[in-house]
Amino acid sequence: MKLKNKIDFRETLPTEIVSERIILRKPILKDVNDLVKNGNEKELSYLTYYLPYPLNKKEAEKLILENQTNKELIRFAIFLKKNKEVIGLLDLHNWKRGETTPVLHSHQPQVSSPRLHTSKQFSATFLQNASAGGKVKIGYWIGKEYRRKGYVSEIVPKVIEYAFNELKVEKIIAKVLIDNIASQKLLEKFNFVKTKIVPGDKFLDGKRVDTISYELNRK
Ligand SMILES: CC(C)(COP(=O)(O)OP(=O)(O)OC[C@H]1O[C@@H](n2cnc3c(N)ncnc32)[C@H](O)[C@@H]1OP(=O)(O)O)[C@@H](O)C(=O)NCCC(=O)NCCS
Repeated sequence: MKLKNKIDFRETLPTEIVSERIILRKPILKDVNDLVKNGNEKELSYLTYYLPYPLNKKEAEKLILENQTNKELIRFAIFLKKNKEVIGLLDLHNWKRGETTPVLHSHQPQVSSPRLHTSKQFSATFLQNASAGGKVKIGYWIGKEYRRKGYVSEIVPKVIEYAFNELKVEKIIAKVLIDNIASQKLLEKFNFVKTKIVPGDKFLDGKRVDTISYELNRK
């Protein structure tokens, strides 16, 4: 058990995801000013329900350092190539690795041997691509001036690929406030399916707000 806690499986993962206009990479302390510039917004704090408002340098630093300590979190800085600015963050969080199941394969022996001819050979191998029960949550935000330019649509398909092929999860989950139409449309654009509405799930700005859960399953 102790050993399991010490292993940081994130160290085995690719650290960058590159698309046409964006690089997703680990956030570093030098990103603090960009995060404050783009993340210090009251409505953004409400919509993400995790970003503090105001978002000052100290809080931005915490967001960066959290990525080093929380092994269930893979936090990417959304780095815009053209002006070299970190315009937001994309999280894959609550990463639950599934069980990689040994499967028995039966096959005929390759070498012709009278002794082996009568029986099939069995060998245990590990499924390369399935991790039963594995899942991860996705979350994202970008600064106001960068919204509605297709940036997050550009990276989401790559992130989906990363979650299924590198994290080997079976399911990607998202939870969105009922009044966050942009995020709902974004998820639906990439075939996430609504699974439930939780009335009054979050307590924000002094009132209870409903959330909608979405899922995308490995094909
Ligand atoms: C949600 C968010 C990440 C979308 O990023 P984006 O780069 O602006 O999104 P895109 O430009 O790629 O648009 C993707 C789709 O979302 C929908 N969309 C985006 N902004 C929208 C808006 N203001 N109103 C309605 N639909 C919107 C559209 O359907 C769009 O697809 P289309 O242009 O093909 O019609 C961004 O609006 C944001 O950072 N919002 C605040 C934080 C947030 O809500 N995070 C999610 C918490 S669950």
